Amino acid sequence: MTRYLITGAHGMLGRDLQAALDAAPGERTVTALSRADLDITDPEATLAAVAGHDVVLNAAAYTAVDAAETDEQAAHLVNAIGAENLAAASRAAGAVLVQYSTDYVFDGAQAEPYAEDAPLAPVSAYGRTKAEGERRARAAHPEGTIVLRTAWLYGEHGSSFVRTMMRLYREHGRLTVVDDQHGQPTWTHDLAEQTVRMLDAGVRSATLHGTSSGATTWHGFAQAIVENLGGDPRDVAPVPSSDFSRPAPRPANSVLAHDGWAALGLAPLRAWRDALDEAMSSGALRMPAAD
Ligand SMILES: NC(=O)c1ccc[n+]([C@@H]2O[C@H](COP(=O)([O-])OP(=O)(O)OC[C@H]3O[C@@H](n4cnc5c(N)ncnc54)[C@H](OP(=O)(O)O)[C@@H]3O)[C@@H](O)[C@H]2O)c1
Repeated sequence: MTRYLITGAHGMLGRDLQAALDAAPGERTVTALSRADLDITDPEATLAAVAGHDVVLNAAAYTAVDAAETDEQAAHLVNAIGAENLAAASRAAGAVLVQYSTDYVFDGAQAEPYAEDAPLAPVSAYGRTKAEGERRARAAHPEGTIVLRTAWLYGEHGSSFVRTMMRLYREHGRLTVVDDQHGQPTWTHDLAEQTVRMLDAGVRSATLHGTSSGATTWHGFAQAIVENLGGDPRDVAPVPSSDFSRPAPRPANSVLAHDGWAALGLAPLRAWRDALDEAMSSGALRMPAAD
């Protein structure tokens, strides 16, 4: 019997982690704690909550990338101190911690995909706090921390680029989307299943990239969404990022390499387009009802 604890369990990834564990074969118990049940910035409460578990999946995070620019302390508390609290508690319990991180720990300046051991150089406040979370979690529990970086998430239980594009396309019939940022759209359902496979393979300490295979731009991603809606991809106009002023800078190249999976005998996540097509055709991203 493996005993799992999910923190941030009501978030987009947290909800799909619970579903993946419920669907997976084998003897498992799952404790799913929302922020109301456990605030990971509280070290004593975290220690008590982690006790009695074998695996901790930390899906809790401060994820408001733009708001973090003017609220870095609040983001740091959750993303860095919260991760450290969970790592220390996991060590005390003899549990493995899966610390989800982000492509935004990299600066995006290199042309090739980022390797798992590429130097961290975040360009945003959010990226800095997540990079610090990686460092603190590893330092607090070096033998039992898995850093799993992901990116460009969408899922059934949260707001995301996919849902926003679906709504805007329905409203306007045309979209204008940046075409100079490259990344890997990733379905939380796929990341959750990969997390279970990874743990079932016995991984206890690693840095891995949990993003879809292949790469596109936000523009290419939006075109694929429109195609799935039965629309014409030419309705999506490309623009440079400089046309959209946002508080937090975004890396130009967010593409992550997947070599770490092969070393563990595991396949990386499937191609981003295959995942998107299934997510949209399955109804998991059903368009919100018209107002
Ligand atoms: N979304 C993306 O595109 C993306 C990209 C790269 C990496 N990631 C990483 O992937 C992971 C999952 O992201 P997500 O999109 O599923 O995030 P999400 O939907 O924003 O969920 C995060 C959850 O954490 C909770 N939370 C916030 N502060 C907390 C605290 N102090 N204690 C306990 N829970 C707390 C939030 O609760 P409230 O809603 O009540 O605040 C929310 O339910 C995060 O580590 C994130 O950094 C996400």
